[in-house]
Amino acid sequence: MRLPKLSSPAALRRAGVLGMNQRNGGFIAQYNRREHYPRVDDKLTTKRLAEEFGIPVPQLYGVVERQHEVNRLAELLAPHDQLVIKPSQGSAGKGILVIMGRDGDSYLKPSKEALSLTDIRRHVNNTLSGLYSLGGRNDKAMVEALIQFSDAFEGFSYQGVPDVRVVVFRGYPVMAMMRLSTEASDGKANLHQGAVGAGIDLITGRASAAVQFDRPVEHHPDTGRALAELVVPQWDELILLATRCYEMTEIGYLGADIVLDRERGPLLLELNARPGLAIQIANQTGLQPRLERIEQLSRRDHMMMQAEDRVAFSRREFGGKP
Ligand SMILES: Nc1ncnc2c1ncn2[C@@H]1O[C@H](COP(=O)(O)OP(=O)(O)O)[C@@H](O)[C@H]1O
Ligand SMILES: [Mg+2]
Repeated sequence: MRLPKLSSPAALRRAGVLGMNQRNGGFIAQYNRREHYPRVDDKLTTKRLAEEFGIPVPQLYGVVERQHEVNRLAELLAPHDQLVIKPSQGSAGKGILVIMGRDGDSYLKPSKEALSLTDIRRHVNNTLSGLYSLGGRNDKAMVEALIQFSDAFEGFSYQGVPDVRVVVFRGYPVMAMMRLSTEASDGKANLHQGAVGAGIDLITGRASAAVQFDRPVEHHPDTGRALAELVVPQWDELILLATRCYEMTEIGYLGADIVLDRERGPLLLELNARPGLAIQIANQTGLQPRLERIEQLSRRDHMMMQAEDRVAFSRREFGGKP
């Protein structure tokens, strides 16, 4: 299926494409309770919750919360050649610093650009003062392990770790996409930074259509690899992990970002209570009919289902339909 031209809202609605107002009013407002937001709006809280719940996450090396702790940054970083520094309340890839290795006293970014300890301190100071965070509020800087991505993604992602976004509605995985970093996206797999989004079939984990900056693409823009060859390994495990985030957060309309570590397998990177709508473009199909299908389930049906059953239901209903 091809979506109609983006310029016609009426045509999009007929094709079942969920718009921003419907998403906010019809789904987020109805299914996401305010008091549950803190579980996902702060990555440190999410990480701790996930650990309690037995959902694997990238290892936390440390947290910098106060300005004076910035002086001890060198000690915190010393044991790790590779790491990621990120704002606890950031979004869309802002303020995420990926360090791939060292060269003497320098820290190397994915692009091989060298940063000094002073550069890193400045970055962390900026992070604490809220430069990258929601509403510019003061924030914490998390230092965590760098994900070592699976060989299966070689050539599909340029200098960055790809992630899989799964939209989970009332505990049912309804749509998935893989986000592949590009030269433009600087080691991050966020679409707004220029990553490629590839729709992923719920049954097989295989890519269907792909987009960059909302335009269809067939090959990775930097590596030239054909995106149709992309298959996500450990897909069953990954989709189940995303689904279990519903029990963990009780958030009805949820976006789960999952990465695949070569050794540890699928790990939860972060959760989002207001996931973006571009996943529909990447999949060339609308969310609305799928969400309605889930809404039709009786309360009893719904209560009976375990995470495994809900995955099976979604695959049956929504899988294999590019
Ligand atoms: N621990 C990590 N290892 C490698 N890459 C990471 C790591 N954390 C984040 N990234 C990269 O940054 C992107 C955005 O990270 P995420 O934690 O989802 O924050 P945001 O809220 O800004 O989207 C990821 O898709 C990934 O490409
Ligand atoms: Mg993210």
